[in-house]
Amino acid sequence: MDIGNVIVTKRKELKLTQQDLADRLHVSFQAVSKWENGFSCPEIELLPLIADVLHISVDALLGYEFKTHGYYDDRYKKDEYFWGLQPNETCYEIMKIMPPVKPLKVLDIGCGEGKDAVFFAKNGYQVTAFDLSLDGIEKGKRLAEKTGVEVNFFQADLNDYRLKENYDIIFLSGVFDYMKPDLRVSLIEHLKEHTNKNGINAIKVFVDKPFIEVSDKKKKSYRYPWKSGEILTYYHDWIMYDIDEVIYDCNSGGVPHKHCIDIMVSVKPEKE
Ligand SMILES: C[S@@+](CC[C@H](N)C(=O)[O-])C[C@H]1O[C@@H](n2cnc3c(N)ncnc32)[C@H](O)[C@@H]1O
Repeated sequence: MDIGNVIVTKRKELKLTQQDLADRLHVSFQAVSKWENGFSCPEIELLPLIADVLHISVDALLGYEFKTHGYYDDRYKKDEYFWGLQPNETCYEIMKIMPPVKPLKVLDIGCGEGKDAVFFAKNGYQVTAFDLSLDGIEKGKRLAEKTGVEVNFFQADLNDYRLKENYDIIFLSGVFDYMKPDLRVSLIEHLKEHTNKNGINAIKVFVDKPFIEVSDKKKKSYRYPWKSGEILTYYHDWIMYDIDEVIYDCNSGGVPHKHCIDIMVSVKPEKE
């Protein structure tokens, strides 16, 4: 996509008019119109501000294509829901800690086909959800429509996307091992900063164990394995509500194997 297309697509996703965008960038709406129609390009020094207003990186603004994993796209293209429709058990735990007695904002990162995001929305939370796979996002949108709930679904790369608002609950299930290791410190700090006081970060992360063999397919994928217990170290200054490590059997791909997952639910303290 060229820059004009990126601007118009993102502007519409954010429900901004050309005038809204122009006002935020301190330019005329004619300038925005020219960019979007390919008659001119924004000045180079405006790029960081445009990227900021559109909630994307400068890379993405310049048309950087999402590099998806194929692995999930292929599975999500099928009609049936690869992960089923039953919500993750951790969603129930989150509901117990923060029941939706007032409007609460949830962010589901790496939401897959949207089953958990739709579950939260059905229970009265205001939900935003993104995933790298457009096929997953489209399925999430269809599920939300069928269920009669609203979820703000969009495609984004966890490694690239920066939050612009705070959330009460940030939920990540099975996606953290796609985060580039050199981003771990800064990205987790970013998620913590964008969590409201007394809010929750609930994280399920696959970890490697020396006695569990990693399949060749996984070795070749874009996975960056975590060490057992490592996630806790990033949240040492929060209240640990629940910590668990589970080894389970899996048959995906038709080959029986095992996974190990760390589950952490932690609460941001009132006073830091
Ligand atoms: C193991 S699945 C978990 C899906 C869902 N959270 C669930 O628990 O059912 C991992 C998900 O992470 C998504 N993903 C992988 N890399 C990502 C990235 N860099 N940014 C955002 N999502 C990503 C995949 O497309 C996939 O949907």
